[in-house]
Amino acid sequence: MGNEQGRCSRGDNLKGIVLAGGSGSRLYPLTRSVSKQMLPVYDKPMIYYPLSVLMLGGIRDILIISTPRDLPRFEELLGDGNHFGVSLAYAEQQQPNGLAEAFIIGREFVGDDSVAMILGDNIFYGHGISQLCRQAAELRTGAAIFAYRVDDPGQYGVVEFEPQTQRALSITEKPTSPASDWAVTGLYFYDNDVLDIARTIEPSSRGELEITAINNAYLERDQLHVHQLGRGFAWLDTGTHDSLHEASSFVRTIEHRQGIKMACLEEIGLSNGWLAAEDVMNWVNQLDSSPYTDYLRRVASERA
Ligand code: TTP
Repeated sequence: MGNEQGRCSRGDNLKGIVLAGGSGSRLYPLTRSVSKQMLPVYDKPMIYYPLSVLMLGGIRDILIISTPRDLPRFEELLGDGNHFGVSLAYAEQQQPNGLAEAFIIGREFVGDDSVAMILGDNIFYGHGISQLCRQAAELRTGAAIFAYRVDDPGQYGVVEFEPQTQRALSITEKPTSPASDWAVTGLYFYDNDVLDIARTIEPSSRGELEITAINNAYLERDQLHVHQLGRGFAWLDTGTHDSLHEASSFVRTIEHRQGIKMACLEEIGLSNGWLAAEDVMNWVNQLDSSPYTDYLRRVASERA
């Protein structure tokens, strides 16, 4: 489908994973029968946002990991990815055993390639995000992660930086006395070694295979690049009732002001040259009218 023009060759040896399992216990009762990552963030399901980031980074081969209960719903929602110009595969995580388990579950999918992982409840927005991802994707060895200044660092992995050089010195998971305000965000780029590193780490005291253990393994090898995301970026997670509401308001405000949609997956497929305007038009003609499909129709006809 679509033409190959504009395809980002840098992403060719890079696979993507969206980790969309977990228990979502902080959002009870919203998540009692529905996956957190399926909940609406204004006008689309939450998973659209992290998926859009991987696509903006030029990644076309993507594995969605979720719970045995929720995985069939994600397949129903996203299918094989063809109408977004990507290829989607699916895998179950039996229990919420931690973020690093994604690389055990996804071992075969990743094969000999590098891998980018994004958490299914993370939203990134800002000029330059696709450029940043494409730069990280170019990295042939080591790992690249992103840090963001937050008000409540103790809820996250926290990076301590060397004051003069801004080199990362340590990362501590959910510290009681954070060494800085810089939280590790839910977007990670790793070389193929991550598959073996994930197999060697032990569960933490809370019983999870921690992504921080993987990041610290790269730090010990002196192969961890931590990019600080500045004021021009928004990084939101959506794990609580308030943050979910705030994320919806944020998306609504941006979309109303600019008249463009955030995380419109078909539009990204089109811009990346993975879909032709005709493909999008054929797809949209199969769907009922809604603000989203009306927008898609407009975008496709402008590019026809
Ligand atoms: P969390 O917000 O840390 O956990 P959760 O989603 O289970 O929510 P709660 O803390 O309210 O119980 O997870 C961050 C993201 O990672 C989220 O998108 C779910 C996903 N996740 C998994 O897919 N598998 C896991 O084992 C864990 C821990 C999280």
